Amino acid sequence: MTSANTSSLRIAGDRLWSSLMEMAEIGKTARGGCNRQALTDEDKQGRDLFVAWCEAAGCTVSADAMGNLFARRAGIDNSLPPIICGSHLDTQPTGGKFDGVYGVLAGLEVIHALNDHGVQTRHPFEVVCWTNEEGARFSPAMLGSGVWAGAFDLEYGHNRTDKEGKTVQQELQRIGYLGAVECRPRPLRAAFEAHIEQGPILEQEGIRIGIVNGVQAIGWYDLIIQGVPCHAGTTPMEVRRDPFMALYGILDKLYQLADDYKPWARMTFGDIRAEPGARNTVPERLLVTVDMRHPDRRQLGNMEQAMQAIVSNECGKFGLDWEIKQEFDAPAISFDQDCINAVRNAADALGYSSKEMVSGAGHDSVYVSGVAPTSMIFIPCEGGLSHNEAENTGKEDVEAGCNVLLHAMLGIDAG
Ligand code: HGY
Ligand code: MN
Ligand code: MN
Repeated sequence: MTSANTSSLRIAGDRLWSSLMEMAEIGKTARGGCNRQALTDEDKQGRDLFVAWCEAAGCTVSADAMGNLFARRAGIDNSLPPIICGSHLDTQPTGGKFDGVYGVLAGLEVIHALNDHGVQTRHPFEVVCWTNEEGARFSPAMLGSGVWAGAFDLEYGHNRTDKEGKTVQQELQRIGYLGAVECRPRPLRAAFEAHIEQGPILEQEGIRIGIVNGVQAIGWYDLIIQGVPCHAGTTPMEVRRDPFMALYGILDKLYQLADDYKPWARMTFGDIRAEPGARNTVPERLLVTVDMRHPDRRQLGNMEQAMQAIVSNECGKFGLDWEIKQEFDAPAISFDQDCINAVRNAADALGYSSKEMVSGAGHDSVYVSGVAPTSMIFIPCEGGLSHNEAENTGKEDVEAGCNVLLHAMLGIDAG
């Protein structure tokens, strides 16, 4: 059977669900989430399981110099550029069972469904697992796909370090995923990524499928405020050069800034580090991570400028030096119309309710879309919750999203 007459083809929802639950056992946390941070032993175990499943499904699996994995199912004409699908297996420290994992295992389920029904596709199909999408252990996010797409060079990617100073290259070597294949773009016919929405819209509106037409801009910054360390007991409050005194006013005004750019602006302070970090010493240095987002890159630029002025004014009040270092600058992107239409046609043919939407979260598809026609498929998640151990979604949604992925890919293949 070729992809031309596969309209009745469906994936096996139970098989997909049990593969998700089996993967979720790796790095399982006490509160039912997953902690499989990039290039840790748990990430290695997850990768090893994925590779074994892909090889058992008849795919040939290769790893590139950033550890990105490509599981390839041959097509009728292997000189044609592949149609790919995929996402990431790495998680946040207190991540869930579905963020990223769903897109990788839904891709594998597409391969199983094609095998079960003896479907021969014209193009080769590939399932991809991108390295370090989360950016939780190694900043920035979407690092593996970013190097592959040429947004970052390989040396930059290899030299990113975690909080203990370990590099990406050392950790890839240690877990056996420093691949021989060059990490660089190659021609693709199309790319799709299935993912939970990680927000509340689909669930609130009772819609099964999100037809993702773009992703908002993301800016990551390190805000560093220099103080003067001194004794907590002997130093009068009015003579201190305490960086927290400046941070107090900065945070208040940055949250006000997010409000000024509502409803789309996002402002998050995910990590803060005081040095030397002793309870009875006024800090010498504060490092605060800032994650700012907006669908319009110009508006994000305005927010960046406002942040500089706020930090300068508040630190000036206490005579403190400061620095804002940009860690990550992901563009606002729009996906390819043919791929968006392929997703919509698949959802319509399958009878699923759907709506077009922009992604609030970053995804590997942001960088892949710079190389090939790309779009994404969202399914609802409970309470819109993600980056939380309670992250959950329904079996029917998991099955529906994967059926849409299958038929979007077959639609492009037959096109
Ligand atoms: O930060 C993000 O949006 C993604 O989860 N890496
Ligand atoms: Mn993700
Ligand atoms: Mn995530």
